[in-house]
Amino acid sequence: MPQIIDGKKISQEIKDELKEKVAALKQEGKEAALAVIQVGDDPASGVYVNNKKKACAYIGIRSLSYELPEDTTEQELLDLVETLNRDDSVNGILVQLPLPEHIDEDKVIRTISPQKDVDGFHPENVGRLVIGEKGFVSCTPAGIIQLLKRSGISIEGKHCVVVGRSNIVGKPMALLMLRENATVTIAHSKTVGLKELCRQADILIVAIGKPRFITAEYIKEGAVVIDVGIHREEKIIDGKTVKKLCGDVKYDEVAEHTSAITPVPGGVGPMTIAMLMNNCVETML
Ligand code: GUN
Repeated sequence: MPQIIDGKKISQEIKDELKEKVAALKQEGKEAALAVIQVGDDPASGVYVNNKKKACAYIGIRSLSYELPEDTTEQELLDLVETLNRDDSVNGILVQLPLPEHIDEDKVIRTISPQKDVDGFHPENVGRLVIGEKGFVSCTPAGIIQLLKRSGISIEGKHCVVVGRSNIVGKPMALLMLRENATVTIAHSKTVGLKELCRQADILIVAIGKPRFITAEYIKEGAVVIDVGIHREEKIIDGKTVKKLCGDVKYDEVAEHTSAITPVPGGVGPMTIAMLMNNCVETML
């Protein structure tokens, strides 16, 4: 039986630790505020933003909510970010992605002060990660490191294959595993011999964005499998439409071949917000 890595439980542990830290910092007169900006009313983004605000309330951080209409201009958004950059009472700034098409996401990310970039998306923070300097780290990959460490899984010397090369997950994930002394291979949808490569992984981290893409054939017996994917699927059971979440890994057939695996939901997902809260607390130190 594999170890089922419980992201819900581990994220709760982290939030409880942070709650204590925030209370102690308050005693020293230190407070934190996170500005959360959402442009438009994409329902999925709305759910994420609400969860982030709830987590702030739980650990004792003030959240400032900016809900801007879909037709907000790029300049209006940049002006708001710059105002928040200058506001000393705001420690962290988060602009929920994706943004409407008429707004250049890169330009917005570059405008956020690197010292307030709790998402870790600014090129300065990405560069710091590359050269091993302290800075904000993208929350999902940082959360995966915590999942592995807190589940007692050793990383040093292991062959880690990361499937996916996005700026938010794949690339920072590979750098973090390298920092932990893993031997790292980055693969992606165009990798030749992907199956054979994945079969060499001691730790396989999948962020390819394709539902149930990774089958048992991709797994070395006893490997650790981390599934970053999250997809909403509709199934018809007894004539009723049932909505179900699934990951990039075909969990039902893969799990029995692993030594440890993350489920979807309840694996990587809850860790992203816990690490965002961790980054917010770091702004207070
Ligand atoms: N959209 C999906 N994930 C994220 C995230 O981690 N941060 C932001 N800002 N937007 C997102």
